[in-house]
Amino acid sequence: MADKYGTVLLFYTGIVILVLLMASGIERYNNRMLSAANQNMENQSGQNVNSEQSNNDQTGQAETGSRNMENQTGTASKNPNTENQTGKASGSQNTENQTGTAGGNPNIDTQLDVHTPRIALTFDDGPSYYTEELLDGLEERGVCASFFLLGRNIEGREDTVKKMYEGGHLIGNHTYSHVKLTSLSTDVACEQVDKTRKLVYKITGYNTLYVRPPYGAWPEEMEYSVTMIPVLWDIDPQDWTTSDVDGIVKKVVSSARDGGIILMHDNYDSSVEAALEIVDQLKKQGYEFVTVDELVYD
Ligand code: NI
Repeated sequence: MADKYGTVLLFYTGIVILVLLMASGIERYNNRMLSAANQNMENQSGQNVNSEQSNNDQTGQAETGSRNMENQTGTASKNPNTENQTGKASGSQNTENQTGTAGGNPNIDTQLDVHTPRIALTFDDGPSYYTEELLDGLEERGVCASFFLLGRNIEGREDTVKKMYEGGHLIGNHTYSHVKLTSLSTDVACEQVDKTRKLVYKITGYNTLYVRPPYGAWPEEMEYSVTMIPVLWDIDPQDWTTSDVDGIVKKVVSSARDGGIILMHDNYDSSVEAALEIVDQLKKQGYEFVTVDELVYD
């Protein structure tokens, strides 16, 4: 019997010793990992405090930081957001518990500022027979666009221009007869712009402030003669060269970006159809449609 008790005692003593050894091993391992992680976070928080980089860059750093943390501590964080980063940065000081209170990095809050991407839809060469349909479609969708009108197309379509203005769209100037301003004398060039300004003013009581020079050709000396702001573009689906609506939509949607200015023409049926489809698709992606003045002043 004594032997049996002795064996049992030895067996339990063995287990206790084993458990103690394992516990101390795990603790040492954890401490090592935590101190490595702390060091990593300290480096990163130093970067944030000293950095003058944009929010985007900081977000990029946060992502890297979170990924490092995942590797070093085994804490899963599939969605590396700044809340996780805040909790880990301060919580891992002296404790095995990773969840802590928010750390004292004042810059982290700015990383949470999510800006709605904005884009401007602009139409040149109108008004035309198709413009009314476009205005109706935009109104249905609660979207305002910018229209750079040709003076020679306004005559006979005064009601369309009035509807455009009352619908909250921005009316800009595209010269009277679609001329290349850089190949004209300053006087004639100014006359081209002024004629359209007067026509729009007569209908709306509004003086066009923004000009889209045909062919993107804006003579610098014009800036001394007219108080107008030239507006170019950066997304050009060349809608006037094709009637392929899907092709136009794809070109614009695939190159859409925050702050982008889309160039289209409201004197084609296919362009109007494509524009409305573009609005639907980009709105689904979270874009807000604005008029160009909102992009220029921000
Ligand atoms: Ni044009």
